Amino acid sequence: MTTQLGKRLLSLLACIILLATIALAATEPPMGFPEPLTSKNFKEELSNGLHIIDFYSPYCPHCRQLAPIWMETWEEFKEESKELNVTFSQVNCVESADLCSDEKIERFPDVRLYNPSGYIKSFSENPKTKDSLIAFARRESKNPDNLDADLDSSIKQSEHIKGFDFLELIAGKATTPYLVSFWPAKDLKNGDDTVDFENCNKCHEFQRTWKLISKQLSAEDIKTGHLNCEFNPTVCKELGFGDLVKITNHRGDREPKVALVLPNKTSNSLIDYPKGCSAEPNGYIDFAKRTFANSKFPNITEEELRRKVNKNIEFLQEKRPVSNNDIHLVFTYDPKTVVTEDFDILEYLIEPLSKIPNIYLHQIDKNLIDLSRGVFESMYEKINYNTSEAQKHFNEEYFTMNTVSQLPTFFMFKDGDFVSHVYHGYSTTEMRNIEQIMRWVQRYSTPLVSEVTSSNLKDLLSFQTEDYSNLAIQLVSSGNDKQIRGSNTLINSLLLASWDYEHIRMENNFELINEKRTKKADGIKLLREKKAPADKVVDKMRVEIPHLDHSKLLLGYLDIAKEKNFFKRFGITGDHKVGDVIIIDKSNNYYFTKDNFGNTLTSNKLHLLREAFVSLNIPSKALYASKLKGRLINSPFHNAVSFLDVVHQNGIYGYLLIIVVIITIAKGPSSYRRYKIRKHYKAKRNAVGILGNTEKKKNQD
Ligand SMILES: *[C@@H]1O[C@H](CO)[C@@H](O)[C@H](O)[C@H]1NC(C)=O
Ligand SMILES: *[C@@H]1O[C@H](CO)[C@@H](O)[C@H](O)[C@H]1NC(C)=O
Ligand SMILES: *[C@@H]1O[C@H](CO)[C@@H](O)[C@H](O)[C@H]1NC(C)=O
Ligand SMILES: *[C@@H]1O[C@H](CO)[C@@H](O)[C@H](O)[C@H]1NC(C)=O
Repeated sequence: MTTQLGKRLLSLLACIILLATIALAATEPPMGFPEPLTSKNFKEELSNGLHIIDFYSPYCPHCRQLAPIWMETWEEFKEESKELNVTFSQVNCVESADLCSDEKIERFPDVRLYNPSGYIKSFSENPKTKDSLIAFARRESKNPDNLDADLDSSIKQSEHIKGFDFLELIAGKATTPYLVSFWPAKDLKNGDDTVDFENCNKCHEFQRTWKLISKQLSAEDIKTGHLNCEFNPTVCKELGFGDLVKITNHRGDREPKVALVLPNKTSNSLIDYPKGCSAEPNGYIDFAKRTFANSKFPNITEEELRRKVNKNIEFLQEKRPVSNNDIHLVFTYDPKTVVTEDFDILEYLIEPLSKIPNIYLHQIDKNLIDLSRGVFESMYEKINYNTSEAQKHFNEEYFTMNTVSQLPTFFMFKDGDFVSHVYHGYSTTEMRNIEQIMRWVQRYSTPLVSEVTSSNLKDLLSFQTEDYSNLAIQLVSSGNDKQIRGSNTLINSLLLASWDYEHIRMENNFELINEKRTKKADGIKLLREKKAPADKVVDKMRVEIPHLDHSKLLLGYLDIAKEKNFFKRFGITGDHKVGDVIIIDKSNNYYFTKDNFGNTLTSNKLHLLREAFVSLNIPSKALYASKLKGRLINSPFHNAVSFLDVVHQNGIYGYLLIIVVIITIAKGPSSYRRYKIRKHYKAKRNAVGILGNTEKKKNQD
């Protein structure tokens, strides 16, 4: 009887599985959906534009998951496909095993971008959705590197460098700079040789990137070379690239490394590329050009600096977004008093500056204080745009307080920015302290306005949190020419509101500092009146008034045509459109999308945007009752794991955890207060202890 039932159940189960399989397999392809490419038509098909190709196996579960998404993507993109010259295609790697082996397909599904001359890069974003695939297609159709037809007859190829020659280069034999790449290979002669790289998923892709880099750098008189680490193990190990010599694990995460050789230098001539491997050539090109330029400490004139700070910030210039957004660090000296040793510090700056994008090093033999003042004064011409508001005035005293320094020192100017910075170098010691100088540089090391993306948001939010309390993000779009032009206007409005706020922030800091000064002076007076010992008075006089520079704004823009999933990903709810501004409080989990009156924050209403900045940071100076209401972001930006991830991993316990976290947050202030009271009490008790009254006190506890 029981076996009967068992059998029936089994056959029912089999039936369900069969039905499910049929249902899965029965996703009908849309009309006109193309057959997979084969080795016969692959080359010919590639010749007509860009292709995004899904290399799949009919047996892999992830491939089957992707199949219906791929069909939908193809269907939705059909029209745009002709317009943008990008086609979604497939290759069945079971039927076309030869083709997949030629293309070195090692895992399924492998979604890759091809142009007529071959493989460009992989699309590795996961999970792969219709939206993310289409966004990829749109992005790549506009990337001029992809259509570079003459790349294969590239004017200058990367040089094959052997270990000994490399050692000579870094010992001072190089007369031009060299950017050198290091590969986990034995026999890569030409950069584009077909080589089997072991355990290096990114190697093939980087071969093309390297070609693009070689081509672009040859126009800059920077040579490129490549070195086989498996053939030159000693050199590579010395350089710290031991993993390129020997496979240490089987994750396939070895990556080609890159370093710059500076010419005519017998020491410190090799600078490592500071970031991980990327298919995008721009980071490498900026690193090589900028670091080589910085290593020469070029002279700059006041006129050039004035032109740079007066530049208009433009969104999407040429290939680089906001290309005129550089930072200029200027070593400023008086030729009458400077000594040769003063210049030594510049040498030590080359390496740390190579790690900060957009930063350029210069020198000048005259004081830049007048330039700095002049530029700052011109900010006031801008922010007095509203005639119905009281005139805002340049505060000479505050300016002097911030810029006082001996020469030599460093000035920092940013493209498009009226506010400059001066390093407080009061002595030789301060001017030779590389750590202190770099700490100061780091504080101001973001460009005037940064592009915000899903991948750099976290870095921006954790950037110098003590000084920069908010990140203000202007929403823009590169969707079409009109939107691009509109985006320039929007970014400039955000800047204007931020300068308007900057004035209020500075005035407030000035007041606070003056209050502290008055208090200090009063304190000294009081001590004198009480005829306190001289050393007490001197101690009081020595107390330094801290140099306040907090509550600064970090500015960014977000291209919503490029970052379609941004809001969802970070749990920012509601509709968001071009023109809107989002403010994120960097020190907690709040974001703000509404102004003090509950309307959407935009840069069209400058005084309300400024008011939002003031209400958040300096509520005592707010004009309207501060009524901004922040939302709790459900994916905390500064925690490694987002709440959503927690739910994902822990199921129901995840939700419980969230509740616990929420309760803790809600209770936070009171338990913190209790902790403080306890601490305070304890301190008191200890003080009593010093007076010799411990025993009695203890008993009372
Ligand atoms: C698409 O790209 C191919 C190859 O680059 C080119 O020959 C063709 O003219 C392009 N078609 C359109 C419509 O742009
Ligand atoms: C390096 O030195 C050589 C020979 O002295 C010179 O020709 C070359 O211009 C120098 N290169 C740089 C970048 O200074
Ligand atoms: C930079 O300026 C100084 C002082 O004017 C001058 O002596 C020096 O030759 C200049 N250097 C270059 C590379 O032009
Ligand atoms: C000027 O400022 C006033 C008061 O802050 C405000 O009501 C008005 O809308 C502003 N005008 C412009 C053009 O921003």
